[in-house]
Amino acid sequence: MMDMINIALPKGRLGEAVYARFKAAGYPCPSIEEENRKLIFENPEAGVRYFWVKPSDVSIYVERGAADVGIAGKDILLEYAPDVYELADLGLGKCRMCVAARKDFRDRPGRILRVATKFPRIAARHYSGQSREIDIIRLNGSIEIAPILGLSDVIVDIVETGKTLLENGLEPRETIVPISARLIANKVGYKFKHEGILELCRRIEAQS
Ligand code: PRP
Repeated sequence: MMDMINIALPKGRLGEAVYARFKAAGYPCPSIEEENRKLIFENPEAGVRYFWVKPSDVSIYVERGAADVGIAGKDILLEYAPDVYELADLGLGKCRMCVAARKDFRDRPGRILRVATKFPRIAARHYSGQSREIDIIRLNGSIEIAPILGLSDVIVDIVETGKTLLENGLEPRETIVPISARLIANKVGYKFKHEGILELCRRIEAQS
């Protein structure tokens, strides 16, 4: 019998959509569809074991081999650069990484720009490409508040519908990179469970 494939799913709306894709691809797991607070589910017949983890932690489980594969946003992969294989773009969870500012914000090129973000590495790389000196203010959420309270000049954050920006008097100024969910694999697991993971990847890609 083939080894079970351990799959880290991102908890939340994206994870639900991802699981639906896996189910349609032939990897159902009836117990995961029951209402409960369990975090680990397996279906030996389909050869899969699923875990629900915090979206930003998926790449940690996969990089360290606690999961063979997982689904992580490109934002997390760019920010943390985990040592994993990126196997496929699932085309789910589409959004973009943007610079946004208050509508009345006027930049002066010479000054140090104060940038609030959950993604300091992406922000630093973006501005170093423009040879712009910045002061990064690392926050953990509700980033949109920073420019409103004068904590920062701009934010670097994810924009999906643009509603959060709009409702807080902010506007997108630059798109840094488009984002979507990616299927990633542990490098060792990919070697030892090669056939199983390749087959999974093929079937998942066929669903998109
Ligand atoms: C993300 C992002 C924005 C919002 C954008 O927040 O940080 O706040 O979604 O979506 P919209 O363009 O559709 O309005 P998330 O829900 O991940 O929460 P957090 O950043 O506050 O943790």
